[in-house]
Amino acid sequence: MTLVNENYLKLQGSYLFSEIAKRVNAFASAHPDKKVIRLGIGDVTLPLPQACIDAMHKAVDEMAEQSTFRGYGPEQGYDFLIEKIIANDYAPKGIDIGIDEVFISDGSKSDTGNIGDIFGADNIVAVTDPVYPVYVDTNIMGGRSGDLLPGGKWSKIVYIPCTAENNFVPSIPTEKVDIIYLCFPNNPTGTTITRDELKKWVDYARENKVVILYDAAYEAYISEPDVARSIYEIAGAKEVAIEFRSFSKNAGFTGTRCAFAVVPKALCAYTKGGEKVQVNPLWNRRHSTKFNGTPYIIQRGAEAAYSDMGKAQIAGMIAYYMENAKIIREGVREMGISVFGGVNAPYIWLKTPSGLSSWAFFDKLLSEANVVGTPGVGFGPSGEGYFRLTAFGSRENTAEAVSRLKTLKF
Ligand code: MLT
Repeated sequence: MTLVNENYLKLQGSYLFSEIAKRVNAFASAHPDKKVIRLGIGDVTLPLPQACIDAMHKAVDEMAEQSTFRGYGPEQGYDFLIEKIIANDYAPKGIDIGIDEVFISDGSKSDTGNIGDIFGADNIVAVTDPVYPVYVDTNIMGGRSGDLLPGGKWSKIVYIPCTAENNFVPSIPTEKVDIIYLCFPNNPTGTTITRDELKKWVDYARENKVVILYDAAYEAYISEPDVARSIYEIAGAKEVAIEFRSFSKNAGFTGTRCAFAVVPKALCAYTKGGEKVQVNPLWNRRHSTKFNGTPYIIQRGAEAAYSDMGKAQIAGMIAYYMENAKIIREGVREMGISVFGGVNAPYIWLKTPSGLSSWAFFDKLLSEANVVGTPGVGFGPSGEGYFRLTAFGSRENTAEAVSRLKTLKF
């Protein structure tokens, strides 16, 4: 008799964005005459930077020649890309990252979802609330969640609320935790914390032997000088933090797939007997056993994101999305709705008016304005009464969505 992994039976419904897609598709088929504007999932809409396209075309041609053809690559990624990452993202900030501390992958969703494999099932996990659902769902799968409680929390997960009341700045947990997921700039709230606030987390992690899983997928959107672009800007962070970065939201690789994780050699976790164990070799073992490398063609495309032309084109794309963010922020604010985020991140987080629940607001927007967003409660209990709009739409759709929202009565 084959037994299932019963942790999977605990998972609630479908993944948040699949559920939204299902509801939107049902609405669209019932109302084929309506033009639905999708500002729900944080998926980019601009085409890839020309520098990346050119590099990938060239790489395709290399694959067509016997002398330049490549089969399996290194599971950890090609040195040409890792060297560019270190030289551009870390070395200029005085952060010393070794070539064998960077692991190229097919996305930060995979990395943040898979990282739990190398940590024990008895760890107490803390998440900020609301949170990117992948962190919680993968810990349910890994047996670290406990049971679902009324109100939507899991009994063994520690939730750190981030709401307008605390200005979206999470407090250090008072209970014992072993692993903390932090995402800054934050998905879903679009807010972030200062370098000084981040330092408190690094100091806490060092004092308490806690590992921080730091998702920096939206780093390219930081516009304020007191916000760290990498957790390793904070002294001592290499002893406690794994950083996740992605080419999805800067170079538009959501469908092309390339990201990386930095797992410093200084980072250790422990056996039950208290023996110190380096985490880097464990991740290397996991990565090389279960993953066969991001395609050569894609890694060449990612490498081109660091060329002068690539950087300039990416800067243009980010400016475009951030102008969308401004249009949404200002439009929503003019409606008298409290709005957050959208300054260092491509997400706008708004307080639903008239005390509407997140899903009630979703339904109203979809049925009356034919605009799709993401219900805040889908990201965790503290997201109830909030709603997320993404700035990744086209300019035309963004402006149209905002003018439709302004016609709604609450
Ligand atoms: C989101 O909408 O939260 C993100 O697009 C999801 C992701 O990056 O996987």
